[in-house]
Amino acid sequence: MTVDFSPSASPLAERLLPAALEIIARYPEGRSRSALLPLLHLVQTEEGHVSPNGVAFCAEVLGINKAQVGAVATFYTMYKRRPTGEYLVSVCTNTLCNVLGGQEVYDELVEHLGVGHDETTADGRITLEHAECLAACDYAPVVTVNYDFAIDEATPSSARELVDQLRDGQRPTLSRGARICSLKEMQVQLAGFSDPRAGAVADGQAGAPTLRGVNLAQQHGIAVPNFNPDAPITKTKPAREEKTKPVSAAEVAGVASNKPAADGKPAGDSVGNEVKK
Ligand code: FES
Repeated sequence: MTVDFSPSASPLAERLLPAALEIIARYPEGRSRSALLPLLHLVQTEEGHVSPNGVAFCAEVLGINKAQVGAVATFYTMYKRRPTGEYLVSVCTNTLCNVLGGQEVYDELVEHLGVGHDETTADGRITLEHAECLAACDYAPVVTVNYDFAIDEATPSSARELVDQLRDGQRPTLSRGARICSLKEMQVQLAGFSDPRAGAVADGQAGAPTLRGVNLAQQHGIAVPNFNPDAPITKTKPAREEKTKPVSAAEVAGVASNKPAADGKPAGDSVGNEVKK
């Protein structure tokens, strides 16, 4: 593949082109633009964020325009728009974590580090953010570092201790998850490349808080009738023909006249549920 890179994309192309082509080759012919998500992570392995040069590189290697790349890069929170620190510390302040003290943990770090959401300490070590549910509600409140679980059932003091260690140049053992790495190293994995460091990928058994529900059910003899945990998972998605629901004459008439639907939205309007950053 030969691409004439522009001056803004060239420096990244010199370093990243072989890896970018490897990513693109994972997708069927004619579907290369689907490689955009891992390519943006690839850009972050070098830059730590997605700069205008990174946008230009992705656009040119995929043959799409910069607006298309920008639309994706600005939609997802894992693509950073400003330079980030070596460690991204995310504190969950969503409902369950919040009820159990997540906001206090976040507030403590704001005060201790002197930075707010999406800001980086002057030494370049820590970028702080408050996050939506980090998918570990059973261990609430939780703190992650570079997307690995760092503190379960966090408290203001355990969070302060962790960031102090990170700023000291230490790499403490996280409560769960893999060995701690820098945010740029994590982007290598997110771009779909294996990380050769020992312990770079976590494995392990579910902990007691995760299994609490199942244990309680067993203790009280609660079971789902006819449930066989060894049964193979079958495809439950209906076939394309089954999915096609007959449309009534009234529905057709409603759409044609743009008559408001029962939920108050204009007929045919499916917009409104997007999650924005
Ligand atoms: S609400 Fe914090 S991990 Fe789910």
